[in-house]
Amino acid sequence: DTFAGTNVDPLRIVGKEMKFLTKNIQQLLGSGHPILDTVAKYYTKSEGKHVRPMLVLLMSRATSHTAKAPQRTPVPSASTVNCPISPPSVLSDRNPLFQADHPLSASSIDTGYANANSDILPSQRRLAEITELIHTASLLHDDVIDNSISRRSSPSANISFGNKMAVLAGDFLLGRASVALARLRDAEVVELLATVIANLVEGEFMQLKNTALDEAKPEWTEDTLSYYLQKTYLKSASLISKSCRAAALLSQNTPEVVEAAYSYGKNLGLAFQLVDDMLDYTISGAELGKPAGADLELGLATAPLLFAWKDNKELGVLVGRKFSAEGDVETARDMVARSTGLEQTRALAQEYADKAVYAISGFPDCEAKQGLIEMCTKTMKRRK
Ligand code: FPP
Ligand code: MG
Ligand code: MG
Repeated sequence: DTFAGTNVDPLRIVGKEMKFLTKNIQQLLGSGHPILDTVAKYYTKSEGKHVRPMLVLLMSRATSHTAKAPQRTPVPSASTVNCPISPPSVLSDRNPLFQADHPLSASSIDTGYANANSDILPSQRRLAEITELIHTASLLHDDVIDNSISRRSSPSANISFGNKMAVLAGDFLLGRASVALARLRDAEVVELLATVIANLVEGEFMQLKNTALDEAKPEWTEDTLSYYLQKTYLKSASLISKSCRAAALLSQNTPEVVEAAYSYGKNLGLAFQLVDDMLDYTISGAELGKPAGADLELGLATAPLLFAWKDNKELGVLVGRKFSAEGDVETARDMVARSTGLEQTRALAQEYADKAVYAISGFPDCEAKQGLIEMCTKTMKRRK
């Protein structure tokens, strides 16, 4: 258990709510087309860390007792949030797949929300599921782009089903996430999560085409690191920060609390991705459950390499050709290992993790706040 040996276990604090997560996500992903149904649910069958939904639930609980702003928006009833959107899984001409959807006509299904008697709202629990859906959609697409072979210790969806079905399944997840989001009946929250989807693409594009680098003659400048951090915000921290913000909005918190929730998510999200980029150099693929050392192979210069480059300017030539010449990947890996790149990456991640803790220091003391703080410690200690 990754949470052993500490006094607060973030997973235990929101354990009751987390118990419903995977089942509910699978319900959101039902399709009348049996193969689409299988591909869409594929990544829900293996063990993810569920970091994003856990953060949303912890933030929801931690901000459930803070000062409230005047009602911004009507709170949707549990039956609006819970209303099923998945048709039965048999194709026939009477199947709802071929009929116009009736958004709110069907009777409510038991998602475990109505009777859970919790200080976390049904809309906040649904938000937790939506964040996992958006994240999983991005992984389906990412594994196609990276031509990856494994994810969560199993063959990746592109390997099991091919690129076409993996891409379409990702789009399907985004569609269903959008329906669930609309059901929250909160325009500001819809806007936040729609922006996240755009940000994910922008971050991935910045990674694909680095406009801050002159590929013919790449030089290390202060912009090198800020371009990387901007990209990192867009591809990782945007989802975490904006969903923390949305969680605080859904329970009608004051602008100060909403801003603190956002700042926590932004800083933790940056720390999380910096650690991810470090683990790509330091942990085996077997332990990670996905290919290790993949970034250099993909031509990507992440934080450990950028710090190594700052002290070894000859790395620029390799960066310029995206480590594509014979021996480049090995040379770069050696130079990173002999540099302080990994330590500097860890130190920067720690700075962001500390800022995340500081952001919520004004929250009243409670178990969920301790859980949020513990998530920062876990992020720094994680090995997968
Ligand atoms: C994993 O990064 C990927 C992301 C954090 C985001 C990827 C975003 C897209 C593919 C844009 C499309 C987005 C949507 C919502 C459909 P990584 O490759 O560095 O990490 P890994 O080692 O886990 O593969
Ligand atoms: Mg990848
Ligand atoms: Mg990628």
